[in-house]
Amino acid sequence: KRVVVFISGSGSNMMALAQACQDPDFPAEIACVISDKATAGGLAKAQEFGIPTLVFERKTYADKAEHEASILAALSEIAPDLICLAGYMRLISGDFIAPYEGRIINIHPSLLPLFPGLHTHERAIESGTKITGCTVHFVTEGMDEGPVIGQAAVPVLAGDDANTLAARVLTVEHQLYPLALKLLAEGKVRMEGGKAIRGDDA
Ligand code: GRF
Repeated sequence: KRVVVFISGSGSNMMALAQACQDPDFPAEIACVISDKATAGGLAKAQEFGIPTLVFERKTYADKAEHEASILAALSEIAPDLICLAGYMRLISGDFIAPYEGRIINIHPSLLPLFPGLHTHERAIESGTKITGCTVHFVTEGMDEGPVIGQAAVPVLAGDDANTLAARVLTVEHQLYPLALKLLAEGKVRMEGGKAIRGDDA
């Protein structure tokens, strides 16, 4: 399956996917990495891997609709089977999702439905929870709301701050995201009726 990965930042999850895709038995390959920020550190990492990159800098577009239209036009040439959002910091619209319904997934650094949105780790620590983690889910119009494909948990330790907790969660993000992409690429999970359906005949 041909995959496009969307990033805005350091791209460590994108790299975890790229490394998984290097295995000839892995059922996906990254056709392109798209960033909405020219300064995203992940762009250089993708290029080192020989993955083509495209930048659609937000501020060069009049509004969100133009920004998305421009990305959609590029995608129609690349013709990806699947899209992975990996630290892509812009909410995508229903119109963008429609042509790729059930084929866009995202990783979020909490055990959804807990702590959607920004400042996840600060809020997890503040809540007093002793466990947190990450979630890979299908992308729907609501932020961090789509059906859950998989989750991984880590402890919140005494003395954690947002940085130490984020680093611990990232280690399991890098394991979970390739597993979730593999399931989707092999047709072992699909979105139907607002749910993620698992099984070999999914
Ligand atoms: C990750 O924690 C991801 O879950 C969140 O943003 C962070 C991106 O990190 N959405 P990276 O760019 O993959 O290193």
